[in-house]
Amino acid sequence: MSVLIKNIKQLVQVHEHNITIVKGSDMKNLPVLENAYLYIVHDTIIEYGPMEDCEGFDAETIIDATGKIVLPSWCDSHTHVVYAGDRTSEFVDRINGLSYAEIASKGGGILNSAKLLQDTSEKEIYEQSLQRLNELIAMGTGALEIKTGYGLTLEAELKMLRVIKQLKQESLANIVPTLLAAHAIPEEFKSKKQDYINFITEELIPQAAELHIAHYVDAFCEQGYFDIKDTEAILKAGAAHNLQPKIHVNQFNILGGIALGVKYNALSVDHLEEINDEDIEALKDSETMPVALPGCSYFISIPYTQARKIIDAGLPLAIASDYNPGTAPSGNMNFIVSAACVKLKMTPEEAINAATINGAYAMGISSMYGSITRGKKANIIITKPMNHYSEIPYAFAHNPIEQVLINGQLLNK
Ligand code: NIG
Ligand code: FE
Repeated sequence: MSVLIKNIKQLVQVHEHNITIVKGSDMKNLPVLENAYLYIVHDTIIEYGPMEDCEGFDAETIIDATGKIVLPSWCDSHTHVVYAGDRTSEFVDRINGLSYAEIASKGGGILNSAKLLQDTSEKEIYEQSLQRLNELIAMGTGALEIKTGYGLTLEAELKMLRVIKQLKQESLANIVPTLLAAHAIPEEFKSKKQDYINFITEELIPQAAELHIAHYVDAFCEQGYFDIKDTEAILKAGAAHNLQPKIHVNQFNILGGIALGVKYNALSVDHLEEINDEDIEALKDSETMPVALPGCSYFISIPYTQARKIIDAGLPLAIASDYNPGTAPSGNMNFIVSAACVKLKMTPEEAINAATINGAYAMGISSMYGSITRGKKANIIITKPMNHYSEIPYAFAHNPIEQVLINGQLLNK
């Protein structure tokens, strides 16, 4: 199987030497080859270059990309794609003035989705999730993380893990599973939170780890959910089972979760709608990727992550969708790239770096994903005709995508 894409107006995010992360002022650089070709064999990028050098390639499929942009697929490093049903009634409650915390205190929020998921069959959850996943792929996402966290019982968390495993086996997209054991405190543990923490650290994490499905462990470090001490217990239990942290921190309140994440070598710390100077200091000289989730800020009307403060301090930044039924019911990464430009004041170059190579880093897969580099996986977006890649975030809420290739396979011919 071989594909030659020729006459590409702009081939974006081209790196002769492999890269795995882009930081600080380097995020403004997005290498582009004008009037280029790209040659793919099986699932791998084999060659690229200017059109004048495009000779002698034997390809089963030839795509003429005249007037179109080609770039690596989006790498969405934070999603909750596996869930049951929806939370449209909470959406209306919020329009009528209730806050996220008020809705949660009425039994809504994460506990609402957990109940729905517990009451839905594994097959039905799989089918709902597969449909969402296929929509994401058509919108340009080629690799994504998926979290558990709407189970909150041993049985339901393992059910979620099995659904994620099945999606991973049957989808062409690269799926990175995370065990979000500590997402919320179930009603029956409200007055005995420590029992729930013990259940997570002593039963759920060990049993889930034995299945070897999850790569990472997550916790919602937030007032009313899991405090620093709880989160530390969960990260310790994760570490004992080789699960590196990727954690929810600083969504509404600053508890010190960023420094804690760095201490436990978190691959990423996500949300950061609130962030202070100590958080920035904690991230310097760490291997931890900060991740902004502008779709969540948009949907529940909370502050946007101060991307400038992060990038201008020399740090890297990734952006992700946070696709979930409560705070971000969209996984459209084209919108996320646009929101990063408009609301986080990132340039198109910074936003595209954040949604490709840095997103891949935040899933631990950037040696094989996130740039156009020989030997990397052929996960590729071909846009509709446009003059410049900046039109992707500029024409917000339009669909810029014409075709996608995942693992070298052309999906929408
Ligand atoms: O990332 N903040 C915690 N978790 C999700 C929301 C989950 C929900 O409301 O269902 C988030 O925003
Ligand atoms: Fe989330």
